[in-house]
Amino acid sequence: MSSPATVNAPEYVKHARLAAWVAEVAALTQPKDIVWCDGSQAEYDRLCEQLVAAGTMQRLNPALRPGSFLARSDPSDVARVEDRTFICSERAEDAGPTNNWLAPAEMRATLQTGPSALFKGSMRGRTMYVVPFSMGPVGSHISHIGVELTDSPYVAVSMRVMTRMGRRVVEQLGSDGTFVPCVHSVGAPLEPGQADVAWPCNTTKYIVHYPETHEIWSFGSGYGGNALLGKKCFALRIASTMGRDQGWLAEHMLILGVTDPQGRKHHVAAAFPSACGKTNFAMLVPPAGFDGWKVTTIGDDIAWIKPHADGRMYAINPEAGYFGVAPGTNAHTNPNCMASLTRDVIFTNVALTDDGDVWWEGMTDTPPAHLVDWQGRDWTPEIAKANPGPDGKPRPAAHPNARFTVAATNNPALDPEWDSTAGVPIDAFIFGGRRSTTVPLVTEARTWMEGVYMAATMGSETTAAQAGATGIVRRDPFAMLPFCGYHMGDYFRHWLEMEHKLEASGHTLPKIFCVNWFRKGADGKFVWPGYGENMRVLQWIVQRVRGEGGGTEHLFGISPRYEDLNWTGLPFPRERFDAVIGVDHQAWSQEMKLHDALFEQLGSRMPAELATTKQRLEERLAA
Ligand code: GTP
Ligand code: SPV
Ligand code: MN
Repeated sequence: MSSPATVNAPEYVKHARLAAWVAEVAALTQPKDIVWCDGSQAEYDRLCEQLVAAGTMQRLNPALRPGSFLARSDPSDVARVEDRTFICSERAEDAGPTNNWLAPAEMRATLQTGPSALFKGSMRGRTMYVVPFSMGPVGSHISHIGVELTDSPYVAVSMRVMTRMGRRVVEQLGSDGTFVPCVHSVGAPLEPGQADVAWPCNTTKYIVHYPETHEIWSFGSGYGGNALLGKKCFALRIASTMGRDQGWLAEHMLILGVTDPQGRKHHVAAAFPSACGKTNFAMLVPPAGFDGWKVTTIGDDIAWIKPHADGRMYAINPEAGYFGVAPGTNAHTNPNCMASLTRDVIFTNVALTDDGDVWWEGMTDTPPAHLVDWQGRDWTPEIAKANPGPDGKPRPAAHPNARFTVAATNNPALDPEWDSTAGVPIDAFIFGGRRSTTVPLVTEARTWMEGVYMAATMGSETTAAQAGATGIVRRDPFAMLPFCGYHMGDYFRHWLEMEHKLEASGHTLPKIFCVNWFRKGADGKFVWPGYGENMRVLQWIVQRVRGEGGGTEHLFGISPRYEDLNWTGLPFPRERFDAVIGVDHQAWSQEMKLHDALFEQLGSRMPAELATTKQRLEERLAA
């Protein structure tokens, strides 16, 4: 066996426990060497060159996409693996029935200590990168620090884009600061002389969280939320348990600012499930007819929200970049996003054009005549038609979960407060699933309790963001089903308790709204035009927050009448509006049965108040 790699800590590392932990993980995983990431541009450039030399990435045409790269993952490693994601609390009931659970000791044996522990020697032949990162502005009282040890240079460069990463974080830690230890291995050790592959990974995958000790161990995948451990693993699963214990919220929410023509500004945080429109909404460009309105982005995926002494809830975006869905993004659906992607982007699993640029389904109406697809194969519209997928549709050139990784500072609509250590005050929470039927375009909850009920029972059709079948309606409470680090029933209780905490300090709570952009007509097409046109709904929400907009009360809350929305610039007849706003009693009777299943699943930890709320809604339905 080769001698252990030396820890090689730079002189600015004063944290003995950090250095000792790095040594300990190196002794287990046996990397050939250890590199401490300082977060500099020079280091980023060097690692990108290295990834190009290794065949993991290729440089895009610098005249068309300066500073940008295309990475192609292994076809088996393209999305989060929910069935391989574990919450290893001491007691199974603390993870709850919506999470996979194994006892910590058992999991540690599998990963670390057992005779054939997966991490034993898992980094052999590879470099271990020490990646110190801050979720949230460095030094903010709301921020938390993590350190990811990874054998993937793709992860190291992605973490530089997605987080505040490097030397300044180690300096912030000082000699005894707290950090969340995150260990990541692609699980593909190299024997001496063995050639590497472009995207190393392992068919065995484990995405593991120890909520009591705040540790993360990830094995076998190099992709997205499986591997960039600051994101879902830390900022949602571990942070949600921190929030439960410390009285704050870690949510799968975008944060945006909306300013009206009078210069009055409001902030909303919105939870939509994966690939259901957070990035789009966060970067919304108001349509013609909304002169003087402005939407600015604070975050597109995750919000940390804390009650403040002034009685309001303040939100920060713990991330510093966007790992966003490429397919469907174009100059019409999301012009700010397209503008964000002009330079310094890492694209993963999109298609390559003949002139060295990128393309994905939905970028243009007509695809280029020839592309190289996300698996490196020739692609033409004819080849695509001749090779339909399981859905019968032509084979896509980009993977449906193809993504871009880009710094927030590339976004022309970035909010001036996006990096503020204090965060922004939230006026409204919005919850929205992908539902082709049943759920109306927008509903304001009558009360916090009913809002929590609607969020808790939200359903959504699955997307390509998670491995497995798409288009299946499942309950996705608060868009947190795959991301809540503890028992979902306790999480609902935590949300309910917020009301009492905030009311005790004598302040108005944010209003709660539910939206659905995805109702379909008999022709199978979306009825609501969506994207920039969602501004019409956002304006109504802002008006309601200000106590201004009109509406009509129905079973579940208050929705706008046709005349309550601003239709300037959009020909949208009343019948079409009825098709997206209507509440069908029969459909809702069916829907409530699906809520039953959730209540049964969560059992005795389901707060009784929610059962009472359900009963009251059912009485209205029966009346
Ligand atoms: P994650 O990054 O996976 O958490 O997801 P996200 O919620 O940020 O997803 P994103 O905004 O990238 O959603 C992408 C998908 O939603 C694409 O398929 C879009 O076409 C679709 N989408 C977004 N907004 C709208 C809308 O207003 N209407 C319709 N019909 N589709 C939309
Ligand atoms: C999601 O799936 O909700 C994402 C992408 O935001 S990933 O980081 O891969 O989880
Ligand atoms: Mn997400």
